[in-house]
Amino acid sequence: MKKIAIFASGTGSNAQKIIDHFRDSSLATVHIILSNKPDAGVLGIAAREGIRAVVIDKETFFRGDAYVKLLQEEGIDLVVLAGFLWKVPANLVAAFPDRIINIHPALLPKYGGKGMYGHFVHEAVLAAGEKESGITIHFVNERYDEGGIILQESCAISAEDTPDTLARKVQALEHRWFPAIVERLLK
Ligand code: GAR
Repeated sequence: MKKIAIFASGTGSNAQKIIDHFRDSSLATVHIILSNKPDAGVLGIAAREGIRAVVIDKETFFRGDAYVKLLQEEGIDLVVLAGFLWKVPANLVAAFPDRIINIHPALLPKYGGKGMYGHFVHEAVLAAGEKESGITIHFVNERYDEGGIILQESCAISAEDTPDTLARKVQALEHRWFPAIVERLLK
């Protein structure tokens, strides 16, 4: 059985979709969930699902290799960033080459980088008058949102769209594609 580690900072709707996708799988399971926010919704999901949850200590994450060791000792095959808002330190990237992926709620390389998350992304896309947006699933390297692209899917933007309605369109794409891509990479 392949083991997935999910890193998330927020609500965890993508984490939930991945958990659901692999619930009865013989290929893989969500083994551990790590969050930098002690009150993140994703930790409630972990508790309800009976999945081990870890609250990340900032100092240790950015200075030591304790989390690299933890993931290695747990035998993690794929690290999935599902709304994780910290940069992944170089030692973690190096320990899991092409084994860390991220989802971004826009069509990179546009609208990426530090501070570009959640509604900030959708506001920027609409302010620029874009006619489409979408999702990018990519490998993680040491620079925000710059690793090799695995998949992009787009959605149309209409004149009536607001950051909220665009967020819903993008989230629908995320929920549809992210679990499938995780599975494809594990196969
Ligand atoms: C997702 O929309 C994801 O693309 C975004 O955070 C959201 C998490 O939602 N990630 C980024 O913006 C990364 N820069 P969720 O907690 O409901 O899965």
